[in-house]
Amino acid sequence: MSGDHLKRLLERHKATVEAAMARILPPCPDSVSVIDEAMRYSLFAGGKRLRPGLLLAVGEALGGELDNLLPAACAIEMIHSYSLIHDDLPCMDDDDLRRGIPTCHVKFGEGMATLAGDALSNAAFQVIAQETRDQDLVAPLVLELSTAAGTGGMIGGQVLDILSEGAAPDIEVVREIHRMKTGALFVASMRLGAIAARADADQLARITDFGRKIGLAFQIMDDILDLVADAETLGKTAGKDAEQGKMTYPAAIGIEASRREARGLIEEARLLLDGLDPQGDLDALAGFIYARLN
Ligand code: IPE
Ligand code: IPE
Ligand code: MG
Ligand code: MG
Ligand code: MG
Repeated sequence: MSGDHLKRLLERHKATVEAAMARILPPCPDSVSVIDEAMRYSLFAGGKRLRPGLLLAVGEALGGELDNLLPAACAIEMIHSYSLIHDDLPCMDDDDLRRGIPTCHVKFGEGMATLAGDALSNAAFQVIAQETRDQDLVAPLVLELSTAAGTGGMIGGQVLDILSEGAAPDIEVVREIHRMKTGALFVASMRLGAIAARADADQLARITDFGRKIGLAFQIMDDILDLVADAETLGKTAGKDAEQGKMTYPAAIGIEASRREARGLIEEARLLLDGLDPQGDLDALAGFIYARLN
C-alpha cells in the first residue's frame, strides 16, 4: 500500500467531514454566539480526523450510503473534540496547547470551554437524529455512540486515568484505561460505519475486533509520542504524562516493549480484514496508526 494512497484517503475523508460539520453544526442564538465561536475554535483547529476517516472507510467498504454515514462521522468527531476540550481543562490534564493552538479554556476561559465541550456532545446526537437519511438507523447509531462515550467507555476511561495518577504502573490497569478512554471511540467509529452500512453479524463482529486492536495500538503510540516527540510536531505539550504521573504503557513496560505490542496489534488487526476491505483503505489506516508522527 503506497504512502500516496494513504495521504489521498486521509485528505479525502477529512475534506468530506469538515465540509459537513461546517454545514450541519446546530446554530446558536446571536446572544450566545461566544459558545458557537468556542465550539468552532476547537472543532476546526485541525486534527487528523482519524475516527470519522475510519467510519467512512468501513462504511464505503461495506457499500453504505454517504447520507447515512456522514452524520455519524461528524458526530464521532464532535464527541472526540469535546473529550479533548475537557481532557485539557486545568481540573484534568491542564494543557495549554492542542492541535497547534492554545487550548479552548486558555482562549475562552474555563467556564466557556466546559460548556463548549458539553454543547459539542449534545450537538453530536442532534446531528445523527436530524441528518441521518434512513431514520430507522437513528436509534441504533445513538445507542452505539452514547454507550461508547459513556461511563463504560470514554468517560469511564477518563475516570480511571484520573484515579490512577501517581500510582505504581500496572499493565493490566493501563490496558483497561486505554481500552476505555480511547479504544471505545475507535470501536464506535468502526461499528457506526458498519451499522450505517447495514453490516451482517459476522462483519460487525470482525469490525469490532479490528477497532479494539487499532484503538489500543493508537493509545500506546500516543503514550510513546508523548515521550519521544516534540511539541511542534505533536501540536500539544510533550512530556506531560511523566510529569503528571500518568499510568502509561511505556511507564509500565518500557518504550520498546510498548512499540512491539502496538505493532503486533496492528498486524493482528490487519488479518481480520479478509474480504472486508476491497480498496485496502482500512489496511492503510491501520498502518498509519503505528507509523504516525503526531
Ligand atoms: C488525541 O487524539 C487524544 C487521544 C485519544 C490520544 P488524536 O491524536 O486523534 O487527536 P487529533 O484529533 O488528531 O487532534
Ligand atoms: C485522552 O488521552 C483521551 C481522551 C481525550 C478521551 P490523553 O490525555 O493521553 O490525550 P492527549 O495526549 O492529551 O491528546
Ligand atoms: Mg488525559
Ligand atoms: Mg491529555
Ligand atoms: Mg496522551
